[in-house]
Amino acid sequence: MDRWELYEHCVQSPADVCDLLACAHGGAARKLLEDFCGSAAISREWVRRGGEAVALDADASALALAGDGVEVVCADVRDADVLRGRSFDVIHSGNFSLGYFFERAPLVSYLRQRAALLAPGGVFACDTYGGRSAFELGAWQRERFLAGGLRVVSTWEHRSADPVTARVENVLHFRVERDGEVVAQLPEAFVYAWRLWSLSELRDALLESGFRTVEVFRDKSGPLRAGDSLEPDFSVCVAARR
Ligand SMILES: C[S@@+](CC[C@H](N)C(=O)[O-])C[C@H]1O[C@@H](n2cnc3c(N)ncnc32)[C@H](O)[C@@H]1O
Repeated sequence: MDRWELYEHCVQSPADVCDLLACAHGGAARKLLEDFCGSAAISREWVRRGGEAVALDADASALALAGDGVEVVCADVRDADVLRGRSFDVIHSGNFSLGYFFERAPLVSYLRQRAALLAPGGVFACDTYGGRSAFELGAWQRERFLAGGLRVVSTWEHRSADPVTARVENVLHFRVERDGEVVAQLPEAFVYAWRLWSLSELRDALLESGFRTVEVFRDKSGPLRAGDSLEPDFSVCVAARR
């Protein structure tokens, strides 16, 4: 198993994400652009459901795992030319990937570009995490059981976190066991140096970038309403429309 396979098994839930994206769009969404797609698991599920998907990432080795039916684009999301003239019902930038923008100006510039690629009625969706432990250091473990009697333990580490600059370094490690014996170890399988944008910062940046409405979703049950609260530790989807 390579690190992307383990990532898909342990970190991602494409069916839930596609349900949430469909809910955030609220209509007949057909064309998806998955930015920062990695191995394009969300696009693969979108295509399996009958939609069309373009999966964009700067890492060609990850894109090689995208699978049939997904159009892959190997590019930097900041390159405005690669998708010029295209339009999408849903643009998704998942798993905290807007954190690759460390400064506000390039974030706004990217959001403006993406606003221009939305079809009428389209939605841009991204995510962020926050709350009590967002800037706490530590490690959290999860287990998953896979076919063939494999148990995968994934460890999510907050290695550094600066509440003043909001710069964080997060690391994902995997350990694979069979019958209690370790059969593979992938320490530091993924290392992320990010800026953790807060919900209000993202909302302001989206509104400045040409989006008219911004909603926050905990899950596919619908957007938060005035007076709703979030869990002490939260991870939410932010959906914006022009
Ligand atoms: C955290 S992973 C996200 C994977 C997937 N989207 C998900 O939801 O789990 C971040 C991905 O962003 C890609 N990436 C980082 N900076 C990028 C950039 N400027 N342009 C395009 N892709 C980038 C990396 O290659 C990596 O595959």
